[in-house]
Amino acid sequence: MPDDASRVASDPALRRALLRWYDGHRRALPWRGQRDPYRVWLSEVMLQQTRVATATPYYHAFLERFPTLESLARAREADVLTAWAGLGYYRRARQLREAARLVVREHGGRVPDEPAAFALLPGVGRYTAGAVLSIAFDRPLPVLDGNVARVLSRLRALRATLREPRGARALWALAATLVPARRPGDWNQALMELGATVCTPRAPRCGGCPASRWCSAFALGRVAAFPPVTARRAVEKVRQAVVLIERRGRMLVVRREGPLLAGLWEPPGVELAPRRSARRALDTLLAGLGLRARIAPAGTSIRYAITHRDITAEVWHGVLAAPPPRPARLRWVDPRDPAVALTALAKKVAALRAGA
Ligand code: ADE
Repeated sequence: MPDDASRVASDPALRRALLRWYDGHRRALPWRGQRDPYRVWLSEVMLQQTRVATATPYYHAFLERFPTLESLARAREADVLTAWAGLGYYRRARQLREAARLVVREHGGRVPDEPAAFALLPGVGRYTAGAVLSIAFDRPLPVLDGNVARVLSRLRALRATLREPRGARALWALAATLVPARRPGDWNQALMELGATVCTPRAPRCGGCPASRWCSAFALGRVAAFPPVTARRAVEKVRQAVVLIERRGRMLVVRREGPLLAGLWEPPGVELAPRRSARRALDTLLAGLGLRARIAPAGTSIRYAITHRDITAEVWHGVLAAPPPRPARLRWVDPRDPAVALTALAKKVAALRAGA
């Protein structure tokens, strides 16, 4: 294995090899081949929690709806959430809209290319700043996501992961020393691409890797030992009850508030404490919304996941004894209407309706 000095000295050759590989092997993704900072920014925000294949149709549809940063800045939050509905992690959409408004208000509509100014915008962390400014403006700033962290951990046989602060610091420092002054955006994307297509978590294809000559884990014959395995965050099991109330093909929904999914719509539902009766909890909920309804279990439940929660929702049917109060957080919606931002749970409940 080369010693530290020769490894540092080999960086130019590693850079050339990886950039050449990227030029020949990169996937033709829709945000590549252009440097409009708004488009780059949108793609990087979408890709932070979402896979390329899932994000791609949303990326196109979002740009149809909001083709420029100015159009996003002018949009109502509800319309932005609707365009995001189904992607999850809705805070990303809210913050991107907020950031667009600030760029219009404080930067004359031009995305600032100064790291200190860009990093002040809502939702812009070190990853987003590095990705957008390197790709759109050639700023030599590093990026680090799960794919890049795995590549770097193997490249230097570093026992480090993003899950612990010390590991993250070491990986960021390494990423920063590697990023070149020329083509920093391509370099960053080459690392991401290598992690996504070659240097994969299981069964990496070292035989086809352009960086294997410089890879310490490969030289040690211990690629599988890097990055080190750490305990995953435990999945929390959650019970919910949700009530489906229908009228002439429409479904009664309530606007969600609170930290998760705020601004999206779904049928009235509550989280149930262990052993709490679903009927009692729903009666209390409906009374709180000003609704008088008779409810009965539908005899089915829906299982879904949000971040680290594995949720089972008991479905109930409800029949209103009096019209709902208005104005309120309540609406009757046609679940097939694409202009309504429904949660994943709401879509699953809607699919249970007779004739749906
Ligand atoms: N994941 C996040 N950003 C990406 C990019 N620009 N290309 C490929 N995968 C990515």
